[in-house]
Amino acid sequence: MAQPALIPSPWESSQEDHPAHAELLAGLAAAEAVIPPKYFYDPLGSKLFEAICALPEYYPTRTEAAIFAAHQQAIAAAVGQGCTLIDLGAGNCAKAAALFEALQPRQYVPVDISTDFLHQSVAGLQKRFPQLPMLPLAMDFSATLELPESVDAQGRLFFYPGSSLGNFDPGQALAFLRRLRAALPPQGGDGAILIGLDLVKDARVLEAAYDDAIGVTAAFNLNVLNHVNALTGADFNARDWRHVAFYNARQQRIEMHLEARRDLIVRWPGARRTFHQGERIHTEYSHKFSEQDILGLLEQAGFGRCRMWFDERRWFAVCHAQAR
Ligand code: AVJ
Repeated sequence: MAQPALIPSPWESSQEDHPAHAELLAGLAAAEAVIPPKYFYDPLGSKLFEAICALPEYYPTRTEAAIFAAHQQAIAAAVGQGCTLIDLGAGNCAKAAALFEALQPRQYVPVDISTDFLHQSVAGLQKRFPQLPMLPLAMDFSATLELPESVDAQGRLFFYPGSSLGNFDPGQALAFLRRLRAALPPQGGDGAILIGLDLVKDARVLEAAYDDAIGVTAAFNLNVLNHVNALTGADFNARDWRHVAFYNARQQRIEMHLEARRDLIVRWPGARRTFHQGERIHTEYSHKFSEQDILGLLEQAGFGRCRMWFDERRWFAVCHAQAR
């Protein structure tokens, strides 16, 4: 593949202009360009993700909800009443809200990178559940997890549904789970994780879920370019790009990319880059798991007494594990 033409402009330093987006700009400039998946979630991207969850092809949300509905009592018995429910990537908070009655949490802590979307969701939710103390935290928890002292330290339950863990590669996933473990008391026993994970299955089912017939996932993927433009001042034109999604069986993951439809030049403050026709920007991995993968990861991260629930087709798993 041809090397990217990166032409720095000495009179502008993009990193000084947008220090928070240094990671994003480095990804755009890398030989194999990458935009981390957290940049999907601007206000429109969060809505498009909600629309994805309603697609006939996108089985994970519906399958996970069915597992929670079918096994609510067993899950509630494993979790116990009165936890501090920390909802990682809460989005519209609907998945956690469906558990409030069974779990009776003492405090609800929704965490999400999409600030406005989070605060709107919580405002609506607080009206429905006026008695439940809610503490929304707008932050990127993918790199570090620093919970303020206002988060109750007792009975913490990290709720991480939707197979979001699959966005990490296996090494990062383990590191992430270890950070969750480190945010629980060291002696073990108090604190747990409730996590939803998508399982390895037929490639055709997986590929349809990430390349749906009416193009919602394509819109979700392409929208990241508009978000990148807004954040960095880049001039990506979504019309120049094509959504690509496929299952990489060897790596057990869906890969999403954006592929240039023609040779083009993209400019952003401080640099510009040539993309050749067919060149790709990697935007997301969505790893799929076996039962053994899940047990191994949780074990290595310092969790034990793992319980798992499945749907009838064994397409998806919900796991509860206690801090060891
Ligand atoms: C939110 C990361 C779990 O990987 O299935 C859906 C995101 N990307 N369709 C997933 C997503 C394309 C989703 N996660």
